[in-house]
Amino acid sequence: MTEAPAVPRPAQWCSSMAVTSSNSAVGISSLPEQQGQQVVFRHRRHGFIWGVSTSSYQIEGAAHEDGRGESVWDVYCRQPGTVANGDTGDVACDHYHRYGQDVALMRDLGIQAYRFSVAWPRVLPQGVGAINEAGLAFYDRLIDSLLAANIEPWLCLFHWDLPQALENRGGWANRDSAGWFAEYSALVARRYGDRVKRFATFNEPSIFALFGYGFGSSAPGVPRDYLKVIHHVNLAHGAAVDTLRALVPAISIGGIHNRQPCLPEHDTPEDQAAAQLLDDYWNRSFPDPQHLGSYPPSLAQAMEPFQQNGDLARICRPMDWFGLNYYSPVYARADTGSSFGFALGDAPADLPRTAMGWPIQPQALRDELLKARQRYRLPIYVTENGIATDDKLNAAGRVQDQQRIDYLQAHTLAMHEAMTAGADVRGYFVWSLLDNFEWTWGYSKRFGLVYVDYPTQRRIPKASAYWYSKLILATRN
Ligand code: FCB
Repeated sequence: MTEAPAVPRPAQWCSSMAVTSSNSAVGISSLPEQQGQQVVFRHRRHGFIWGVSTSSYQIEGAAHEDGRGESVWDVYCRQPGTVANGDTGDVACDHYHRYGQDVALMRDLGIQAYRFSVAWPRVLPQGVGAINEAGLAFYDRLIDSLLAANIEPWLCLFHWDLPQALENRGGWANRDSAGWFAEYSALVARRYGDRVKRFATFNEPSIFALFGYGFGSSAPGVPRDYLKVIHHVNLAHGAAVDTLRALVPAISIGGIHNRQPCLPEHDTPEDQAAAQLLDDYWNRSFPDPQHLGSYPPSLAQAMEPFQQNGDLARICRPMDWFGLNYYSPVYARADTGSSFGFALGDAPADLPRTAMGWPIQPQALRDELLKARQRYRLPIYVTENGIATDDKLNAAGRVQDQQRIDYLQAHTLAMHEAMTAGADVRGYFVWSLLDNFEWTWGYSKRFGLVYVDYPTQRRIPKASAYWYSKLILATRN
Protein backbone atom coordinates (compact mmCIF):
# COMPACT_ATOMS: atom_id res chain seq x y z
CA MET A 1 0.00 0.00 0.00
CA THR A 2 1.68 3.20 -1.06
CA GLU A 3 0.76 6.26 0.91
CA ALA A 4 -1.18 8.83 -1.09
CA PRO A 5 1.30 11.53 -2.10
CA ALA A 6 -0.83 14.47 -0.95
CA VAL A 7 0.74 16.86 1.51
CA PRO A 8 -1.97 18.18 3.84
CA ARG A 9 -3.26 21.60 2.99
CA PRO A 10 -5.19 23.70 5.48
CA ALA A 11 -8.19 23.56 3.14
CA GLN A 12 -8.49 19.81 3.74
CA TRP A 13 -9.19 20.43 7.39
CA CYS A 14 -12.34 21.64 8.90
CA SER A 15 -12.65 24.43 11.34
CA SER A 16 -12.41 25.02 15.05
CA MET A 17 -13.37 22.25 17.35
CA ALA A 18 -13.54 22.29 21.09
CA VAL A 19 -13.13 19.11 23.09
CA THR A 20 -14.94 19.71 26.33
CA SER A 21 -14.83 18.01 29.67
CA SER A 22 -18.14 16.17 29.40
CA ASN A 23 -17.93 12.40 29.07
CA SER A 24 -21.38 12.04 27.61
CA ALA A 25 -20.34 11.24 24.07
CA VAL A 26 -17.45 8.87 24.76
CA GLY A 27 -19.46 5.72 24.86
CA ILE A 28 -18.18 4.22 28.09
CA SER A 29 -20.93 4.34 30.65
CA SER A 30 -18.62 4.15 33.65
CA LEU A 31 -16.46 7.15 32.77
CA PRO A 32 -15.99 9.65 35.56
CA GLU A 33 -16.41 13.32 34.66
CA GLN A 34 -13.29 15.19 33.71
CA GLN A 35 -12.86 18.55 35.30
CA GLY A 36 -12.83 21.68 33.19
CA GLN A 37 -10.42 20.50 30.52
CA GLN A 38 -10.79 22.42 27.32
CA VAL A 39 -8.82 21.28 24.35
CA VAL A 40 -8.83 23.05 21.07
CA PHE A 41 -7.78 20.98 18.11
CA ARG A 42 -8.61 23.42 15.43
CA HIS A 43 -8.58 21.34 12.31
CA ARG A 44 -8.95 17.83 11.16
CA ARG A 45 -7.75 16.09 8.12
CA HIS A 46 -9.38 13.25 6.31
CA GLY A 47 -7.83 9.92 7.18
CA PHE A 48 -5.77 11.07 10.17
CA ILE A 49 -5.19 8.13 12.54
CA TRP A 50 -5.23 8.34 16.33
CA GLY A 51 -3.58 5.36 17.99
CA VAL A 52 -1.65 4.03 20.95
CA SER A 53 1.66 2.15 21.09
CA THR A 54 3.04 -0.63 23.26
CA SER A 55 5.81 -3.20 22.97
CA SER A 56 6.02 -6.91 23.64
CA TYR A 57 8.53 -7.10 26.49
CA GLN A 58 7.01 -4.12 28.25
CA ILE A 59 3.47 -5.53 28.51
CA GLU A 60 3.11 -9.20 27.60
CA GLY A 61 4.52 -11.06 30.58
CA ALA A 62 4.12 -14.87 30.20
CA ALA A 63 7.87 -14.88 29.77
CA HIS A 64 8.21 -18.58 30.41
CA GLU A 65 4.94 -19.79 28.93
CA ASP A 66 3.89 -21.69 25.85
CA GLY A 67 7.40 -22.29 24.60
CA ARG A 68 8.65 -18.69 24.48
CA GLY A 69 12.45 -18.48 24.26
CA GLU A 70 14.52 -16.05 26.30
CA SER A 71 15.29 -12.54 25.14
CA VAL A 72 18.26 -10.39 26.02
CA TRP A 73 15.98 -8.47 28.36
CA ASP A 74 15.06 -11.60 30.36
CA VAL A 75 18.73 -12.26 30.93
CA TYR A 76 19.66 -8.63 31.56
CA CYS A 77 16.93 -8.15 34.19
CA ARG A 78 18.26 -11.10 36.18
CA GLN A 79 21.64 -9.44 36.61
CA PRO A 80 21.72 -7.71 39.99
CA GLY A 81 21.61 -3.93 39.90
CA THR A 82 20.49 -3.53 36.30
CA VAL A 83 16.80 -2.67 36.73
CA ALA A 84 15.14 -0.58 39.45
CA ASN A 85 13.80 -2.68 42.31
CA GLY A 86 15.00 -5.85 40.59
CA ASP A 87 11.90 -5.69 38.35
CA THR A 88 11.56 -7.97 35.33
CA GLY A 89 9.13 -8.37 32.45
CA ASP A 90 8.13 -11.86 33.63
CA VAL A 91 4.55 -10.77 34.34
CA ALA A 92 4.48 -7.14 33.19
CA CYS A 93 0.84 -6.23 32.41
CA ASP A 94 -0.06 -9.87 31.79
CA HIS A 95 -1.27 -8.73 28.39
CA TYR A 96 -0.59 -12.22 27.02
CA HIS A 97 -3.63 -13.38 28.98
CA ARG A 98 -5.55 -10.11 29.19
CA TYR A 99 -5.23 -8.91 25.61
CA GLY A 100 -9.00 -9.31 25.09
CA GLN A 101 -9.73 -6.88 27.89
CA ASP A 102 -7.09 -4.48 26.60
CA VAL A 103 -8.53 -4.53 23.09
CA ALA A 104 -12.03 -3.92 24.49
CA LEU A 105 -10.69 -0.97 26.43
CA MET A 106 -9.18 0.51 23.27
CA ARG A 107 -12.41 -0.07 21.39
CA ASP A 108 -14.41 1.69 24.10
CA LEU A 109 -12.03 4.64 24.08
CA GLY A 110 -12.37 4.92 20.29
CA ILE A 111 -8.69 4.17 19.57
CA GLN A 112 -8.30 3.74 15.81
CA ALA A 113 -4.93 1.99 15.56
CA TYR A 114 -2.82 -0.13 17.85
CA ARG A 115 0.91 -0.38 17.40
CA PHE A 116 2.39 -3.45 19.09
CA SER A 117 5.53 -5.50 18.58
CA VAL A 118 6.01 -9.20 18.12
CA ALA A 119 8.36 -10.85 20.60
CA TRP A 120 10.82 -12.58 18.29
CA PRO A 121 11.70 -15.28 20.87
CA ARG A 122 8.02 -16.07 21.34
CA VAL A 123 7.63 -17.14 17.73
CA LEU A 124 11.19 -18.37 17.10
CA PRO A 125 12.57 -19.41 20.50
CA GLN A 126 16.09 -19.85 19.12
CA GLY A 127 15.78 -16.81 16.84
CA VAL A 128 15.90 -18.97 13.70
CA GLY A 129 14.88 -22.51 12.84
CA ALA A 130 12.14 -24.19 14.88
CA ILE A 131 8.86 -22.28 14.98
CA ASN A 132 6.77 -21.97 18.14
CA GLU A 133 3.18 -22.44 16.99
CA ALA A 134 1.71 -21.45 20.39
CA GLY A 135 3.53 -18.12 20.22
CA LEU A 136 2.34 -17.45 16.68
CA ALA A 137 -1.22 -18.28 17.74
CA PHE A 138 -1.12 -15.56 20.41
CA TYR A 139 -0.63 -12.86 17.79
CA ASP A 140 -3.37 -14.44 15.65
CA ARG A 141 -5.75 -13.98 18.56
CA LEU A 142 -4.58 -10.45 19.20
CA ILE A 143 -4.84 -9.38 15.55
CA ASP A 144 -8.25 -10.99 15.11
CA SER A 145 -9.56 -9.23 18.23
CA LEU A 146 -8.23 -5.90 16.97
CA LEU A 147 -9.87 -6.32 13.60
CA ALA A 148 -13.14 -7.38 15.21
CA ALA A 149 -12.98 -4.18 17.29
CA ASN A 150 -12.31 -2.11 14.16
CA ILE A 151 -8.81 -1.17 15.35
CA GLU A 152 -6.06 -1.21 12.75
CA PRO A 153 -3.10 -3.41 13.78
CA TRP A 154 0.34 -1.82 13.29
CA LEU A 155 2.96 -4.51 13.72
CA CYS A 156 6.53 -3.63 14.69
CA LEU A 157 9.02 -6.45 14.15
CA PHE A 158 11.61 -5.41 16.69
CA HIS A 159 11.21 -3.49 19.91
CA TRP A 160 14.49 -4.54 21.56
CA ASP A 161 13.79 -8.13 22.73
CA LEU A 162 16.41 -9.98 20.70
CA PRO A 163 16.39 -13.75 21.27
CA GLN A 164 19.18 -14.55 23.72
CA ALA A 165 20.10 -17.54 21.55
CA LEU A 166 21.11 -15.08 18.83
CA GLU A 167 22.91 -12.82 21.27
CA ASN A 168 24.95 -15.90 22.18
CA ARG A 169 25.99 -16.03 18.52
CA GLY A 170 27.15 -12.42 18.57
CA GLY A 171 23.77 -10.74 18.26
CA TRP A 172 23.70 -7.66 16.06
CA ALA A 173 27.50 -7.65 15.98
CA ASN A 174 27.31 -10.73 13.76
CA ARG A 175 26.74 -9.84 10.10
CA ASP A 176 24.53 -12.92 9.81
CA SER A 177 21.96 -11.03 11.89
CA ALA A 178 20.56 -9.49 8.70
CA GLY A 179 19.72 -12.99 7.45
CA TRP A 180 18.28 -14.02 10.83
CA PHE A 181 16.06 -10.96 10.82
CA ALA A 182 14.92 -11.66 7.26
CA GLU A 183 13.96 -15.22 8.23
CA TYR A 184 11.95 -13.93 11.19
CA SER A 185 10.34 -11.22 9.02
CA ALA A 186 9.29 -13.82 6.46
CA LEU A 187 7.63 -15.92 9.14
CA VAL A 188 5.70 -12.92 10.48
CA ALA A 189 4.75 -11.72 7.00
CA ARG A 190 3.48 -15.15 5.90
CA ARG A 191 1.49 -15.63 9.06
CA TYR A 192 -0.10 -12.21 9.53
CA GLY A 193 0.24 -10.48 6.14
CA ASP A 194 -3.31 -11.48 5.20
CA ARG A 195 -4.64 -9.27 8.03
CA VAL A 196 -1.89 -6.78 8.85
CA LYS A 197 -0.89 -4.16 6.28
CA ARG A 198 1.11 -1.75 8.43
CA PHE A 199 4.57 -3.01 9.30
CA ALA A 200 7.51 -1.33 10.97
CA THR A 201 10.98 -2.87 10.95
CA PHE A 202 12.81 -1.49 14.02
CA ASN A 203 11.69 0.69 16.90
CA GLU A 204 14.30 3.31 17.76
CA PRO A 205 17.37 1.46 16.54
CA SER A 206 19.62 4.30 17.64
CA ILE A 207 18.46 3.95 21.24
CA PHE A 208 18.98 0.23 21.68
CA ALA A 209 22.25 0.40 19.77
CA LEU A 210 23.64 3.31 21.81
CA PHE A 211 22.43 2.20 25.23
CA GLY A 212 22.70 -1.57 24.68
CA TYR A 213 26.05 -1.69 22.86
CA GLY A 214 27.55 1.84 23.05
CA PHE A 215 27.16 2.73 26.71
CA GLY A 216 26.21 -0.82 27.76
CA SER A 217 23.61 0.54 30.15
CA SER A 218 20.68 -1.54 28.91
CA ALA A 219 20.35 -5.01 27.41
CA PRO A 220 22.47 -6.80 26.41
CA GLY A 221 24.54 -4.50 28.59
CA VAL A 222 28.19 -4.84 27.61
CA PRO A 223 29.78 -1.94 25.70
CA ARG A 224 31.06 -3.49 22.51
CA ASP A 225 30.85 -3.33 18.72
CA TYR A 226 28.63 -0.24 18.67
CA LEU A 227 29.46 0.87 15.13
CA LYS A 228 29.28 -2.65 13.77
CA VAL A 229 25.87 -3.05 15.39
CA ILE A 230 24.64 0.15 13.71
CA HIS A 231 25.64 -1.18 10.32
CA HIS A 232 24.22 -4.66 10.79
CA VAL A 233 20.90 -3.36 12.11
CA ASN A 234 20.71 -1.15 9.05
CA LEU A 235 21.40 -4.17 6.84
CA ALA A 236 18.70 -6.12 8.70
CA HIS A 237 16.25 -3.29 8.11
CA GLY A 238 16.89 -3.40 4.36
CA ALA A 239 16.64 -7.20 4.24
CA ALA A 240 13.33 -7.11 6.13
CA VAL A 241 11.85 -4.44 3.86
CA ASP A 242 12.57 -6.56 0.77
CA THR A 243 11.22 -9.68 2.46
CA LEU A 244 8.01 -8.02 3.64
CA ARG A 245 7.35 -6.36 0.31
CA ALA A 246 7.76 -9.64 -1.54
CA LEU A 247 5.31 -11.45 0.76
CA VAL A 248 2.59 -8.99 1.76
CA PRO A 249 0.30 -7.54 -0.88
CA ALA A 250 -0.60 -3.85 -0.46
CA ILE A 251 1.86 -3.48 2.42
CA SER A 252 2.75 -0.14 3.98
CA ILE A 253 6.21 -0.17 5.62
CA GLY A 254 8.03 2.30 7.80
CA GLY A 255 10.96 2.49 10.16
CA ILE A 256 10.48 4.06 13.59
CA HIS A 257 13.06 6.59 14.73
CA ASN A 258 13.31 8.71 17.84
CA ARG A 259 14.01 12.33 16.94
CA GLN A 260 15.30 14.60 19.64
CA PRO A 261 17.05 17.92 19.23
CA CYS A 262 20.59 17.44 20.55
CA LEU A 263 21.63 20.57 22.42
CA PRO A 264 24.90 21.56 24.10
CA GLU A 265 24.89 21.46 27.88
CA HIS A 266 27.03 24.61 27.95
CA ASP A 267 27.40 27.22 25.29
CA THR A 268 31.02 26.28 24.54
CA PRO A 269 32.56 25.17 21.24
CA GLU A 270 33.40 21.79 22.83
CA ASP A 271 29.82 21.09 23.94
CA GLN A 272 28.47 22.37 20.64
CA ALA A 273 30.69 19.90 18.80
CA ALA A 274 29.57 17.14 21.18
CA ALA A 275 25.92 18.00 20.50
CA GLN A 276 26.53 17.86 16.75
CA LEU A 277 28.18 14.46 17.08
CA LEU A 278 25.40 13.15 19.30
CA ASP A 279 22.90 14.35 16.70
CA ASP A 280 24.71 12.31 14.04
CA TYR A 281 24.57 9.15 16.13
CA TRP A 282 21.20 9.66 17.75
CA ASN A 283 19.13 11.17 14.97
CA ARG A 284 20.89 10.24 11.75
CA SER A 285 22.91 7.01 11.94
CA PHE A 286 19.84 4.96 10.98
CA PRO A 287 17.46 7.18 9.02
CA ASP A 288 20.18 8.67 6.80
CA PRO A 289 21.43 5.35 5.37
CA GLN A 290 17.90 3.93 5.28
CA HIS A 291 16.38 6.87 3.43
CA LEU A 292 19.27 8.76 1.85
CA GLY A 293 21.74 5.92 1.25
CA SER A 294 24.65 7.41 3.20
CA TYR A 295 25.99 7.72 6.71
CA PRO A 296 26.43 11.21 8.19
CA PRO A 297 29.90 12.48 7.16
CA SER A 298 31.21 12.33 10.74
CA LEU A 299 30.51 8.57 10.86
CA ALA A 300 31.24 7.60 7.26
CA GLN A 301 34.91 6.72 7.68
CA ALA A 302 34.39 4.85 10.92
CA MET A 303 31.68 2.72 9.28
CA GLU A 304 33.87 1.70 6.33
CA PRO A 305 35.50 -1.38 7.92
CA PHE A 306 32.08 -3.02 8.32
CA GLN A 307 30.79 -2.34 4.85
CA GLN A 308 30.86 -4.58 1.83
CA ASN A 309 30.20 -3.55 -1.75
CA GLY A 310 26.56 -2.73 -2.29
CA ASP A 311 25.64 -2.49 1.40
CA LEU A 312 24.22 1.02 1.23
CA ALA A 313 21.96 -0.03 -1.64
CA ARG A 314 20.85 -3.01 0.46
CA ILE A 315 19.99 -0.68 3.33
CA CYS A 316 18.30 2.12 1.38
CA ARG A 317 15.04 0.53 0.23
CA PRO A 318 11.87 2.34 -0.81
CA MET A 319 9.76 3.15 2.23
CA ASP A 320 6.14 4.23 2.61
CA TRP A 321 6.31 6.34 5.75
CA PHE A 322 8.58 7.65 8.48
CA GLY A 323 7.74 6.76 12.09
CA LEU A 324 8.83 9.56 14.44
CA ASN A 325 8.99 9.13 18.22
CA TYR A 326 9.37 12.29 20.24
CA TYR A 327 9.64 12.91 23.98
CA SER A 328 12.08 15.73 24.73
CA PRO A 329 15.32 17.37 23.68
CA VAL A 330 18.53 15.71 24.79
CA TYR A 331 21.70 17.46 25.98
CA ALA A 332 25.34 16.64 25.27
CA ARG A 333 28.66 17.60 26.73
CA ALA A 334 32.15 16.97 25.48
CA ASP A 335 33.78 13.96 27.09
CA THR A 336 37.26 13.14 25.92
CA GLY A 337 37.25 10.10 28.20
CA SER A 338 34.45 8.45 26.23
CA SER A 339 35.18 6.59 23.04
CA PHE A 340 32.55 8.67 21.25
CA GLY A 341 33.76 12.12 22.33
CA PHE A 342 30.43 12.98 23.93
CA ALA A 343 28.45 12.14 27.02
CA LEU A 344 24.84 12.83 27.82
CA GLY A 345 24.59 16.19 29.55
CA ASP A 346 22.13 17.86 31.88
CA ALA A 347 19.24 20.03 30.73
CA PRO A 348 18.99 23.55 32.18
CA ALA A 349 17.65 23.32 35.72
CA ASP A 350 14.76 25.73 35.12
CA LEU A 351 12.99 23.68 32.43
CA PRO A 352 9.74 21.95 33.35
CA ARG A 353 10.27 18.20 33.52
CA THR A 354 8.44 14.91 33.46
CA ALA A 355 8.70 12.22 36.14
CA MET A 356 11.60 10.80 34.09
CA GLY A 357 13.39 14.14 34.51
CA TRP A 358 13.00 14.76 30.77
CA PRO A 359 12.54 18.44 29.84
CA ILE A 360 9.16 19.35 28.36
CA GLN A 361 9.43 21.24 25.08
CA PRO A 362 6.48 20.76 22.75
CA GLN A 363 7.78 23.18 20.14
CA ALA A 364 10.68 20.80 19.53
CA LEU A 365 8.16 18.26 18.22
CA ARG A 366 6.97 20.80 15.66
CA ASP A 367 10.57 21.49 14.63
CA GLU A 368 11.49 17.80 14.40
CA LEU A 369 8.43 17.05 12.26
CA LEU A 370 9.34 19.82 9.86
CA LYS A 371 13.00 18.77 9.73
CA ALA A 372 12.13 15.09 9.16
CA ARG A 373 9.69 15.99 6.42
CA GLN A 374 12.24 18.16 4.69
CA ARG A 375 15.06 15.66 5.00
CA TYR A 376 13.31 12.37 4.23
CA ARG A 377 10.34 13.51 2.11
CA LEU A 378 7.97 10.85 3.43
CA PRO A 379 4.56 10.95 5.08
CA ILE A 380 5.13 10.91 8.84
CA TYR A 381 3.37 9.14 11.67
CA VAL A 382 4.15 10.22 15.22
CA THR A 383 4.55 6.66 16.45
CA GLU A 384 5.30 7.54 20.10
CA ASN A 385 4.73 10.60 22.25
CA GLY A 386 3.87 10.65 25.92
CA ILE A 387 4.95 11.39 29.45
CA ALA A 388 5.67 9.63 32.72
CA THR A 389 3.84 11.26 35.63
CA ASP A 390 3.53 10.40 39.31
CA ASP A 391 0.09 8.86 39.00
CA LYS A 392 -1.81 7.80 42.08
CA LEU A 393 -5.22 6.30 42.56
CA ASN A 394 -7.31 8.81 44.52
CA ALA A 395 -9.87 8.00 47.20
CA ALA A 396 -12.54 7.70 44.52
CA GLY A 397 -10.41 5.13 42.71
CA ARG A 398 -9.54 7.50 39.86
CA VAL A 399 -6.33 8.93 38.45
CA GLN A 400 -6.32 12.66 37.74
CA ASP A 401 -3.24 12.94 35.54
CA GLN A 402 -3.61 16.56 34.54
CA GLN A 403 0.09 16.86 33.70
CA ARG A 404 -0.31 14.15 31.06
CA ILE A 405 -3.34 15.89 29.56
CA ASP A 406 -1.40 19.16 29.42
CA TYR A 407 1.56 17.43 27.79
CA LEU A 408 -0.54 15.64 25.20
CA GLN A 409 -2.55 18.74 24.46
CA ALA A 410 0.57 20.85 23.96
CA HIS A 411 2.22 18.23 21.78
CA THR A 412 -0.79 17.53 19.57
CA LEU A 413 -1.10 21.27 19.03
CA ALA A 414 2.63 21.47 18.18
CA MET A 415 2.06 18.62 15.71
CA HIS A 416 -0.82 20.52 14.22
CA GLU A 417 1.36 23.61 13.83
CA ALA A 418 3.89 21.51 11.95
CA MET A 419 1.15 20.19 9.69
CA THR A 420 -0.09 23.68 8.99
CA ALA A 421 3.49 24.62 8.11
CA GLY A 422 3.72 21.75 5.60
CA ALA A 423 4.75 18.59 7.46
CA ASP A 424 2.78 15.67 6.04
CA VAL A 425 1.75 14.04 9.32
CA ARG A 426 -0.85 11.29 8.95
CA GLY A 427 -1.28 9.93 12.45
CA TYR A 428 -0.36 10.14 16.11
CA PHE A 429 0.17 7.31 18.63
CA VAL A 430 0.33 7.93 22.37
CA TRP A 431 2.96 6.09 24.32
CA SER A 432 1.43 4.18 25.95
CA LEU A 433 -1.88 2.42 26.29
CA LEU A 434 -0.94 0.95 29.67
CA ASP A 435 1.52 1.66 32.44
CA ASN A 436 4.22 -0.90 31.80
CA PHE A 437 7.78 -2.12 32.30
CA GLU A 438 9.84 0.97 31.56
CA TRP A 439 13.15 -0.81 30.84
CA THR A 440 15.83 -0.03 33.45
CA TRP A 441 13.30 1.97 35.48
CA GLY A 442 11.14 -1.14 35.86
CA TYR A 443 7.59 -0.40 37.02
CA SER A 444 8.58 2.79 38.83
CA LYS A 445 7.56 5.01 35.90
CA ARG A 446 4.03 5.24 34.56
CA PHE A 447 3.45 6.28 30.94
CA GLY A 448 -0.03 4.80 30.42
CA LEU A 449 -3.32 6.38 29.53
CA VAL A 450 -4.56 3.47 31.60
CA TYR A 451 -3.34 2.87 35.14
CA VAL A 452 -2.29 -0.69 35.91
CA ASP A 453 -2.67 -1.81 39.49
CA TYR A 454 0.09 -4.41 39.29
CA PRO A 455 -0.87 -6.58 42.29
CA THR A 456 -4.37 -7.13 40.87
CA GLN A 457 -3.68 -6.29 37.21
CA ARG A 458 -6.77 -4.09 37.28
CA ARG A 459 -6.92 -1.52 34.46
CA ILE A 460 -8.18 1.94 35.42
CA PRO A 461 -8.43 4.52 32.62
CA LYS A 462 -6.86 7.78 33.77
CA ALA A 463 -8.37 11.20 33.10
CA SER A 464 -6.02 11.41 30.12
CA ALA A 465 -7.63 8.33 28.55
CA TYR A 466 -10.97 10.12 28.54
CA TRP A 467 -9.35 13.28 27.27
CA TYR A 468 -7.79 11.33 24.38
CA SER A 469 -11.05 9.57 23.68
CA LYS A 470 -12.80 12.90 23.33
CA LEU A 471 -10.09 14.27 21.09
CA ILE A 472 -10.54 11.29 18.78
CA LEU A 473 -14.30 11.60 18.85
CA ALA A 474 -14.17 15.30 18.08
CA THR A 475 -11.66 15.04 15.25
CA ARG A 476 -12.32 11.70 13.62
CA ASN A 477 -13.70 11.52 10.14
C1 FCB B 1 10.89 4.97 23.94
C2 FCB B 1 10.71 3.47 23.78
C3 FCB B 1 9.50 2.92 24.49
C4 FCB B 1 9.32 3.56 25.86
C5 FCB B 1 9.36 5.06 25.74
C6 FCB B 1 9.13 5.78 27.04
O1 FCB B 1 12.21 5.33 23.72
O2 FCB B 1 10.55 3.17 22.40
O3 FCB B 1 9.66 1.53 24.59
O4 FCB B 1 10.22 3.07 26.74
O5 FCB B 1 10.59 5.45 25.23
